[in-house]
Amino acid sequence: MQHPMLNIAIRAARRAGQIINRASLDLAIIKIQAKQHNDFVTEVDRAAEAAIIETLLGAYPDHAVLAEESGYTGKPDAPCQWIVDPLDGTHNFIHGFPYYCISIALQESNTLTQAVIYDPIHNDLFTASRGYGATLNNRRIRVSRRDRLSTALIGTGFAHRKLQDTSLTSYIKLFTEMTQSCAGLRRPGAAALDMANVAAGRLDGFFEQGLHRWDIAAGCLLVTEAGGLVGDYRGEADFLDTGEILCANSKLYAQMVHITNPYSQPA
Ligand code: IPD
Ligand code: CA
Ligand code: CA
Repeated sequence: MQHPMLNIAIRAARRAGQIINRASLDLAIIKIQAKQHNDFVTEVDRAAEAAIIETLLGAYPDHAVLAEESGYTGKPDAPCQWIVDPLDGTHNFIHGFPYYCISIALQESNTLTQAVIYDPIHNDLFTASRGYGATLNNRRIRVSRRDRLSTALIGTGFAHRKLQDTSLTSYIKLFTEMTQSCAGLRRPGAAALDMANVAAGRLDGFFEQGLHRWDIAAGCLLVTEAGGLVGDYRGEADFLDTGEILCANSKLYAQMVHITNPYSQPA
């Protein structure tokens, strides 16, 4: 049986998915705003976020929500906090590139306990409850068993918002090393879905810097409940605060940390 809080998160994600799917039928009429260079928000992100918050707080009025577009709703010091990205991969969505998702996590007294990542295009529902494993469409998922980086398919993301970004120069060096060490590197454009795909063993690992908690909270629980490891480029645990993230199965994780460690810029 699913945890009641997970059920509510699933309901919220499916509601948001309906809004996003309906809007995707006519992308030309969607109103788009630039938050900063190359950082967009649409009315669809906002409508999906409002539906998620209404569903979560309708069921649990004492909880707080941290969501990408509206910040905190409720008390930031509430013991139960939902962390929401209503549309991860907005840029892909705007272009009709079919790779985006909804990400919802619950943090209870600083521990991630429930996670939902929903891909509304494929109707793929990834869930995890702490201690109860991870699932995709109700079937148990595990990270991949591949143990040699030279055979691995790795996901990544990179800075694209600042025109002159020193972290991009460092990233390109890391990209060169990683691409020479693995079998293939992909940049699909939705960090939460990338992590869900690591949990499902479709990607063998993932790394990116400069992310926010709403990009990675749900993915983190999914990967760990699927038997994988999550940390920063040095293998340290403060990735939720720093937004520097690396995840993979345990064998590849160690091999990847060896490469990413010198490029760590967690602050
Ligand atoms: C973005 C995506 C992308 C990552 C960016 C994120 P958004 O989220 O996850 O893959 O590279 O850093 O901000 O803005 O589409 O929710
Ligand atoms: Ca995001
Ligand atoms: Ca978003």
